[in-house]
Amino acid sequence: MIWLLLACMNEPTEPTEPTAEPPPPVAAPLERTRAEAVASAESAAAALTGALKSTLTNAMAQGGPEAAMSACADQAQGAAALALVGKRARAGRTSVRLRSPANTAPDWVVPWLEAYGGGALADAKPETTVSEGEGQVTARIIRPIEVQPPCLACHGDVATLSPAVAAVLADRYPDDAATGYAVGDLRGVVWAEASVRTAQDVGGAQAH
Ligand code: HEC
Repeated sequence: MIWLLLACMNEPTEPTEPTAEPPPPVAAPLERTRAEAVASAESAAAALTGALKSTLTNAMAQGGPEAAMSACADQAQGAAALALVGKRARAGRTSVRLRSPANTAPDWVVPWLEAYGGGALADAKPETTVSEGEGQVTARIIRPIEVQPPCLACHGDVATLSPAVAAVLADRYPDDAATGYAVGDLRGVVWAEASVRTAQDVGGAQAH
């Protein structure tokens, strides 16, 4: 998926003549902590996506969309939460058109949703922000989710849903707003946040 692509941090450089140039400085501790926090948020988002995907794929294979429907509702979020215990990271999915109220956006995701959540996938920009304070660095990431063909079994036009899926929706998600999507639509986002403590005991206060 596009949002999993990471920028290459250490691109090879052209060989240069040996000169008196000093070697490049080692990244400052704060910079390293910021990179660590972003990487941790990225892996929290990947853990959630992976857990959801395997739950969905297994349940679809075993019992079709209606079995997968229940599996999604019962297990996916719990499995993701377990995978993240002890990592000072959280991840979730949300949308402007929610199926489950349990997926309501955290406050910090709301401005992004208001700006892009109801628009086209092409206009939905992934976002990464890093903030510092209270002895820790916190990274927050937002990654758009695209509707793909298998999603339509449960998020497509109501008229095209199987009766079994429609029945589970009516029973478990009476306020469902997450149907009527087409392939290539923006469905919502994966969000994740991770905190890493700053190394206060090394080198004292940082100039930047
Ligand atoms: C088998 C039915 C099923 C399929 C297939 C399915 N979903 Fe869902 N989806 C659900 C259910 C049930 C929920 C609510 C429970 C949960 O959070 O998992 C949900 C919730 C979501 C949410 C969280 C926001 C909300 O509305 O609550 C997103 C985002 C989402 N789905 C995207 C997708 C995408 C993208 C695909 C295709 C790759 C997909 N879904 C395929 C059943 C399905």
